[in-house]
Amino acid sequence: MTDMNYPHRHLLGIEGLSPLEISYLLDQSERFVEVSRGPDRKLSTLIGKTVVNLFFENSTRTRTSFELAGKRLGADVINMTVGTSSVAKGETLIDTAMTLNAMHIDVLVVRHADSGAAKLLSDKVNCAVINAGDGQHEHPTQALLDALTIRRRKGHLDGLSVAICGDVRHSRVARSNIHLLNVMGAQVRLIAPRTLLPAKAEALGVEVFHDMRKGLKDVDIVMMLRLQNERMTSNFIPSIREYFHFFGLDYDKLSAAKPDALIMHPGPMNRGVEIDSDLADDVERSVIREQVEMGVAVRMACLDVLTANLSKGAA
Ligand code: CP
Repeated sequence: MTDMNYPHRHLLGIEGLSPLEISYLLDQSERFVEVSRGPDRKLSTLIGKTVVNLFFENSTRTRTSFELAGKRLGADVINMTVGTSSVAKGETLIDTAMTLNAMHIDVLVVRHADSGAAKLLSDKVNCAVINAGDGQHEHPTQALLDALTIRRRKGHLDGLSVAICGDVRHSRVARSNIHLLNVMGAQVRLIAPRTLLPAKAEALGVEVFHDMRKGLKDVDIVMMLRLQNERMTSNFIPSIREYFHFFGLDYDKLSAAKPDALIMHPGPMNRGVEIDSDLADDVERSVIREQVEMGVAVRMACLDVLTANLSKGAA
């Protein structure tokens, strides 16, 4: 019998999860915030379990926090370095995952440049798969840690007005956050130049703005996104200078938001491009460091819930 609060074998995306399932993962994460802040951060919950981090794209926050999360729960954690693995000799993604699967691992955490990569692997392996970011599609643990940060600061998610600003077009973080915030009853606004919005953005259940001061008016949360140059196939902005002038968050533009509006950024930040450097470090407004802290707790909760489901035979 799987955990009916989250009756899934994998975490591939936020789309399709119910408010109860999301709330459950956030509630479980709260426990691990306390563990991580306490004097003894090592638990024995996952002793005997193996977690493999398989990252085909660069990462600082996600990879490190999954490693920390696994180790704090007592699991053995392997970080695969793709550059020195047999991927460099031409082994495919699926063959790589099947090879790891044959070693009886429990959780495969995968980041890949192709949308749908995590889902593809989940159909082939016996272990649980966690999507740590697939192309422009989803980054579910990022949305969960963002939600946990907001919920802890504001007490709730429903009814909040959240502006997601910048390169929405190439952002898996934006997509996961839009799904999560919509299903949890928040109102989402996207603020971006037309070139950096997905086609038919309004169909995502959001309001769209092309002017920061109009879009930020009276919002509770301001989420900034970096320009994801690694996914751009042509020029999407005239210049960095002009982009910062119109779409970079500074104190002047922020004054349109509520006085207690929180500033968030999934990282990595490009200071002076999408966000003013002083504002990013302003502890009265910015919760960017707190987001990183919540990342470890959320990933502990996901590993805990999924390994428990796996041992109960979740489909
Ligand atoms: N937010 C995020 O995914 O950061 P990393 O690329 O450093 O993991």
